[in-house]
Amino acid sequence: STKIITRDNIQLLHIDNAFASAEISLFGGHILSFKPKYDGRERLWVSQNALFDGKKPIRGGIPICWPWFGGHSGNTDLPAHGYVRAQNWDILNTEESDTGTTITLKPQTTAGEGFEGNAQLTLVVHVGQQLRIQLLTSNLGNTPFTFNCALHSYFAIADIKHCELLGLSKQYSDKTRSLQMFDTPQPYCFSEETDRVHIEQPKTLSIIDKQIKTRILSSGHDSIVVWNPWQDKSSSMDDMADDSYLTMLCVETAVTQWQEVAPQATHTLEQVIK
Ligand code: BG6
Repeated sequence: STKIITRDNIQLLHIDNAFASAEISLFGGHILSFKPKYDGRERLWVSQNALFDGKKPIRGGIPICWPWFGGHSGNTDLPAHGYVRAQNWDILNTEESDTGTTITLKPQTTAGEGFEGNAQLTLVVHVGQQLRIQLLTSNLGNTPFTFNCALHSYFAIADIKHCELLGLSKQYSDKTRSLQMFDTPQPYCFSEETDRVHIEQPKTLSIIDKQIKTRILSSGHDSIVVWNPWQDKSSSMDDMADDSYLTMLCVETAVTQWQEVAPQATHTLEQVIK
């Protein structure tokens, strides 16, 4: 079944089928929960202090970053990670099949300050034994445009100090150290603020945790971004509790290198979570 519930100023679509349950906020086209039935474990993390005011992006789940990632390159007054995560989205279609439920959503507008393209943006979410998320960017105009985007997934983990990320190779650019390049640690464990852009294209990653192994399959990306704010930054953020960094890890399937989309072409960014 699918039903809409209201939380503060936000409408949430609740999905429950034979394979899983999930929740999608229509503010931001933002997935907040995915619980497959075979193990009943929540894969996504949402901050206990998250705001549902319909103004600020929700802290946790899977924010959609579009049409830029991080700060805007030309204008620092524009919102971080683009503007569609703070916009209302419409449901275009809901479909039940023998593998689960597919929901198609689009933001109310794709036009905004800081982006020149004539784009159509579509989010297709399949809730089955796995969660499949596709973000489709189509060029409806007559000239090419470039954009960045990300499925900024916050994964629920038991303990950041006892978890390991598998599958990333080579090097990363460190946003906490002026974008300097470093070798990826082996094993990939966490003991400090982490904000890294891995410009490479591994397809399969795993988070190995005391309680759960989460697998992440990516495509259409040029980067994987790994983020944990650690203690000081968590404390400084209004929508994160002081110690909440302990139970989350962002592993983001991203385009950070300005992908070009030709007229009439479509770029598809995909993340599958199991
Ligand atoms: C990550 C960025 O993707 O998102 C970080 O690499 C940033 O630099 C983080 O702090 C959270 O961003 P925001 O805008 O949701 O607070």
